[in-house]
Amino acid sequence: MPERSAAPPLRPSDRLGRPLRSLRISVTDRCNLRCRYCMPEDDYAWLPRESILSFEEITRLAVIFSRLGVDRLRLTGGEPLMRRDLPTLVKLLRMEARPKDLALTTNGLLLSGEVAGLKAAGLERITVSLDTLRPERAREFSRTTRHGDILEGIRAAAEQGFGLKLNAVVIRGFNDDELGDLIAFGREVGAEVRFIEYMDVGGATRWRMEDVVSRDEIVSRLGGAEPMAGRGSAPAERYRLKDGTTFGVVASTTAPFCRDCDRGRLTADGTFLTCLYARDGLDLRGPLRAGASDGELTKLIAD
Ligand code: 5AD
Ligand code: SF4
Repeated sequence: MPERSAAPPLRPSDRLGRPLRSLRISVTDRCNLRCRYCMPEDDYAWLPRESILSFEEITRLAVIFSRLGVDRLRLTGGEPLMRRDLPTLVKLLRMEARPKDLALTTNGLLLSGEVAGLKAAGLERITVSLDTLRPERAREFSRTTRHGDILEGIRAAAEQGFGLKLNAVVIRGFNDDELGDLIAFGREVGAEVRFIEYMDVGGATRWRMEDVVSRDEIVSRLGGAEPMAGRGSAPAERYRLKDGTTFGVVASTTAPFCRDCDRGRLTADGTFLTCLYARDGLDLRGPLRAGASDGELTKLIAD
């Protein structure tokens, strides 16, 4: 057999020299909640339908990313369950991109009706955003009267045997008195809670530093939590309480973890970003729809 000349492996990394291992794929920009810290307005100018990547287009790009070393995929939004027939995408990604890890981040509102289909399609892990256990607070903060559906969705996911996490953004004067209650609820459903420091994401969200509860304050309020070793590239640092319950804290505001981050992001309209909060990214939809080959797309991303 003639020996092929070995091309140097294409390994995308960014300005901090970080290799790309995981990709968040946004499947829609729409959301059925209006969290004060994220989408506080009544209405937004949503992306037109034709600019949203199809499941086939997403899968094709995911396959290319997987050849470049990405082995962890997470589906996000907006609210990803607002995209019709999401299990079909899960199935396609499972079969074609074959990630080691495939997860979903959701607000839980539509989850209970979807867990069976998602499980059958091959999804393994679900993270639900749950900031409060009190319906009246959810009404005020995320403008939903269906807080019960979120809790039901979490319980349904637990029953299906999903690896479950609960994300709680901690905001002073809103939910900072619920840290222990959230941990207790997590324990009840078999989910680890991750507390996230409130971040300034711009827009109309009226973020104030005074409203941020720092990681140190979160940990000290939970009393006697011991840090656990080894966080690798995960953004959360983990702690263990005296009773053995573990939780995580994402210190996004007081200790940004950019240097250890290995995440990229693909927006619903096909822009590739190397940071959640990067302003401009690389348009992949244009070349994709103009008929670019796998090799051309690979080179574009790797560069
Ligand atoms: N600060 C911290 N976390 C935020 N999220 C959205 N906006 C903010 C913010 N301003 C979280 C959601 C969800 C995840 C996708 O991002 O609550 O858990
Ligand atoms: Fe934003 Fe998530 Fe709240 Fe929707 S549920 S408004 S995407 S934080």
